[in-house]
Amino acid sequence: MKTDHVFVFQAADDLSFLADDSVDLVVTSPPYPMIEMWDTQFADRNPQIADKISGGDGRRAFELMHVQLDQVWHECARVVRDGGFVCVNIGDATRKVGENFRLYTNHSRITISLERLGFQSLPAIIWRKQTNAPNKFMGSGMLPSGAYVTLEHEYILVFRMGDKRVFKGNERQHRQRSAFFWEERNVWFSDLWDFKGTRQTLPNSDARQRSGAYPFELAFRLINMYSQQADTVLDPFAGTGTTAIAAIASGRNSVNVEIDSELSGVINDTMRTASEGINNRQLLRCEHHLQFIQRFEEDKGRSLAYTNEPHGFRVMTKQERFLTLLAVEQIKKSGESRYETVHKTLGPATPVSTPVHGVELVSPNQDQLSFGL
Ligand SMILES: C[S@@+](CC[C@H](N)C(=O)[O-])C[C@H]1O[C@@H](n2cnc3c(N)ncnc32)[C@H](O)[C@@H]1O
Repeated sequence: MKTDHVFVFQAADDLSFLADDSVDLVVTSPPYPMIEMWDTQFADRNPQIADKISGGDGRRAFELMHVQLDQVWHECARVVRDGGFVCVNIGDATRKVGENFRLYTNHSRITISLERLGFQSLPAIIWRKQTNAPNKFMGSGMLPSGAYVTLEHEYILVFRMGDKRVFKGNERQHRQRSAFFWEERNVWFSDLWDFKGTRQTLPNSDARQRSGAYPFELAFRLINMYSQQADTVLDPFAGTGTTAIAAIASGRNSVNVEIDSELSGVINDTMRTASEGINNRQLLRCEHHLQFIQRFEEDKGRSLAYTNEPHGFRVMTKQERFLTLLAVEQIKKSGESRYETVHKTLGPATPVSTPVHGVELVSPNQDQLSFGL
């Protein structure tokens, strides 16, 4: 099986190179309005934004930043097929502009925007990113009532275009192969995710110090939850290409749009070295499943009821019988900013407790796999 991964360096306000209804899933994280690290990027495209901030009008600056994002959401509504999903990772912002300190509710502004474009809201996920910084509390200390709650979470907003997807022809077979484990379902479909953020420093970048990247685990889960093998995933705010790496790991195609062409070097380096990290993640998935079987069967004194055909291990439900874990055989450059990936079925299941190519066995919640960054 092969998949295709393309990077396009331009503003995502115009995705005319993509046909209507050609995308199955959007997984993305835009620049966060009213978080200072993104001010210049927004203001470069609309100087009024800088004027509003320096003039103390935070509310108007916030709105003008969202007007820029709205153009991208508008394009997403055009290219996402009926029954396709959009997942947006976004945090709210707390900020003092002039004399006024307040919360800028990015998640609700984006929800309103996508709803207006015809998307339906589905239950969102709170991604809890706890901070241990000693100065994390803001305001008047131990005296009421000028202290503010610390934001230690972000949102993953989930939307669907139109009605439930109808699976036709070989889509049905892809769906069976794209099943996830019962025990993964129980963690992934919880509305609270608790794992650390990822390293933000950009190597050798004169232009930007910080990437704003999200962890591989976040994109990997969403892609497995809301799309299937051979689908096309779009990230209109691609940054360092985390979504593309997660799409490769999951056997999906990807289209990645990024305004900052200076990131192309980082992306290329990541692609060149991504296979090992991806394959380790899949081996870890397999290893966790084998541990789950062992624990379950010891506790209950009976075997799991079903056998998975491609891998030969036992599984909890009938729906997991054709679940196929993929490994990457090769990622090769197929164009200026284009990569072709050759996938194969992951090799025979490793026995429980065998070290997996030096990967420390941790809960998937704490996975911090590095992809060359
Ligand atoms: C929060 S970061 C995304 C990081 C990405 N998820 C990752 O893991 O590396 C937002 C990205 O959107 C890019 N960006 C901002 N405005 C854009 C636009 N209109 N079109 C395309 N990319 C844009 C920024 O340069 C930045 O890299």
